[in-house]
Amino acid sequence: EKGGFPHFMLKEIYEQPEAIRDTLRGRLDPESGRVDLSDAALSPEFFEGLRKIFFVACGTSYHAGLVGKYLLEALAGIPVEVDLASEFRYRDPLVDEGTLAVVISQSGETADTLAGLRLARDKGARVLGIVNVLGSTIAREAHRVIYTHAGPEIGVASTKAFTSQLTVILLLALYLGGLSGRLSPERARLLARELVEFPGLLQKLIPKVHPLLKELSEHYFRQENFLYLGRNILFPVALEGALKLKEISYIHAEGYAAGEMKHGPIALIEESVPTVALAPRESGVVYEKMVSNIEEVRSRRGPVLAFGTQGDEHLAGLSTDFVGLPPVSWEISPLLYTVPLQLFAYEMAVRRGCDVDQPRNLAKSVTVE
Ligand code: F6R
Repeated sequence: EKGGFPHFMLKEIYEQPEAIRDTLRGRLDPESGRVDLSDAALSPEFFEGLRKIFFVACGTSYHAGLVGKYLLEALAGIPVEVDLASEFRYRDPLVDEGTLAVVISQSGETADTLAGLRLARDKGARVLGIVNVLGSTIAREAHRVIYTHAGPEIGVASTKAFTSQLTVILLLALYLGGLSGRLSPERARLLARELVEFPGLLQKLIPKVHPLLKELSEHYFRQENFLYLGRNILFPVALEGALKLKEISYIHAEGYAAGEMKHGPIALIEESVPTVALAPRESGVVYEKMVSNIEEVRSRRGPVLAFGTQGDEHLAGLSTDFVGLPPVSWEISPLLYTVPLQLFAYEMAVRRGCDVDQPRNLAKSVTVE
């Protein structure tokens, strides 16, 4: 059942190229860059008069929503708010008929997310679900559902469900970017082509970087505190990387926007507190800022495990350890940078003898508050 893998989580990490491909299938034409969401009964009318988008979700699915804010605001020019479902449901969010609530849930059964959906619906919002489990409660109660086609996810830690959610959000951003006219047809075509080719890239990459991350876990597995830093669209990926590490290896890990370092967390830096830094060279000014942050950490004797663009000797030289990844567009970078962080968390947990598929105190589907 684990297809030769020692754990479901590893199997599911390796299944991501397939999951992304299945989620894209029939929905994206790389020739025209056009997105077709008719399988979700979505047409331009559904989005008419849209003034604001709310992403509502928990945990890893919430991190997908955070990425969604960067993508939808940039590509479609629509203001986006992202809320934890447990917060959204107990405040009085400014939701009305001009609001689209996008609820994201692998299981489709998360209690807080379901309550958020009902609240948004009662306030007159249009509700779109991004759901993996067919016919789940959230799928049934949303006005429309775009299914992620990740297949069953057995490991408690979400992996392929997350990258499939990111894939749907990219499709949505391309779709709404086209509708709003903010995304040029040329850019849409380029992105569509890159997205369609991405599963192939990932398929080659995973077996290549896995041994390296396993080796790195040998160096790092005794540490009890980690900081994960990213900026811009990779800030949510830093949050997700830290969540993966803490939930399966029980190592304390905090994700931070790197620009916040000076506002507190830099006080933690010392030899026994490694920093994981996400710094693709393609990220322009943000790359320079990440490099400064890494220098600040190193000058306080903090070890840095950097993930950046392959061939970036400057970054490799600055960091204690370096993992090089292929260059990709800004929009695709969350999909790419997530995967090695999953492999790192997995190998760390295995090295520490943790029950990777069934971490203590956690359930796959959180149907109570
Ligand atoms: C973390 C994880 C959880 C879920 C969260 C929401 O790896 O799996 O944080 O993401 O419980 O679950 P769904 O997406 O089923 O609503």
